[in-house]
Amino acid sequence: MRPELPTCGSASAEPLSFGSLGATHEGSGNNKQVEFSMAQGERTRRRALVTGASRGIGREIARVLAEDGVAVAVHYSASEERARELLATLPGTGHVLLQADLADEAQAAALAPRAAQALGGLDILVNNAGIFREHPVREVDAAEWAARWKEILAVNLLAPALLIHAARPFLAVAGGGYIVNIGSRGAFRGEPTAPAYGASKAGLHGLGQYMAVALAPDKIYVVNLAPGFVETEMAREALQGERGVATRGQSPHQRVARSEEIAETVRFVVSGRADWLTGGTIDLNGASYLRS
Ligand SMILES: NC(=O)c1ccc[n+]([C@@H]2O[C@H](COP(=O)([O-])OP(=O)(O)OC[C@H]3O[C@@H](n4cnc5c(N)ncnc54)[C@H](OP(=O)(O)O)[C@@H]3O)[C@@H](O)[C@H]2O)c1
Repeated sequence: MRPELPTCGSASAEPLSFGSLGATHEGSGNNKQVEFSMAQGERTRRRALVTGASRGIGREIARVLAEDGVAVAVHYSASEERARELLATLPGTGHVLLQADLADEAQAAALAPRAAQALGGLDILVNNAGIFREHPVREVDAAEWAARWKEILAVNLLAPALLIHAARPFLAVAGGGYIVNIGSRGAFRGEPTAPAYGASKAGLHGLGQYMAVALAPDKIYVVNLAPGFVETEMAREALQGERGVATRGQSPHQRVARSEEIAETVRFVVSGRADWLTGGTIDLNGASYLRS
């Protein structure tokens, strides 16, 4: 007998149902990857929530998952138009759009149940949305210092923790799944002018490691990715002019990452061929920071 799914709190009081998505997909991905989690009988497609999918890295993650036949909940906060554009161009069918400000605790806690409701369940959670704000300790006053810490920790650390807690029952009832946290090299190399960012990412890496152990009984695999600079709007200032030359020069390859390189790693992590990565933090920094 199929287990009864958890209900969705404020987003919905109705139990969810499986099997609403399978037959219509026409994406170009590898069918083995699409079908490897077919333990639920009629369900043939996996379902993913990608936070911050409107732009940058999250956009590419949504695209590669859709290419592999996954139904994607494209989450955005402010960039509605860009999120709609992405939705319209994703391969396959069954994708949905969800808005939420992850700085807001209630909205963060409700997002995974809303995604599960819209997709008919959940197999993959990608905690990608994040913010970077400078707040040099010698330059900002006490009020700004406190405001930056609260804002950055809320979006980069508390929201993923709330998302994981709320997503867990849905992943468990699906027979297991994946949580991928987009962390940062900054957790290791340091962020002297944006310490709350570095601390939030170090915290996120820790959260991922602990969850890899705590959620193993539910067959949930949890992996952190730690990119160095990536060519997105978040890194725009660091990539301009003279500073850009220095930023790219941090790698012996004289460049920074492309979003696709991070997304391809997510594709591999959730492919079913790399489950022993669970509990790990994968460096994606072009040898710009070495740790052992
Ligand atoms: N770019 C880099 O150099 C770099 C390096 C290491 C790690 N990372 C990490 O990679 C992840 C993605 O970064 P990116 O470079 O793609 O950044 P980005 O281009 O600035 O995109 C950030 C994404 O996060 C969403 N977001 C921002 N604030 C939000 C909020 N309050 N609530 C909900 N969503 C919010 C944005 O949504 P809207 O636009 O819809 O508001 C957007 O989709 C982040 O976690 C970042 O820390 C980036």
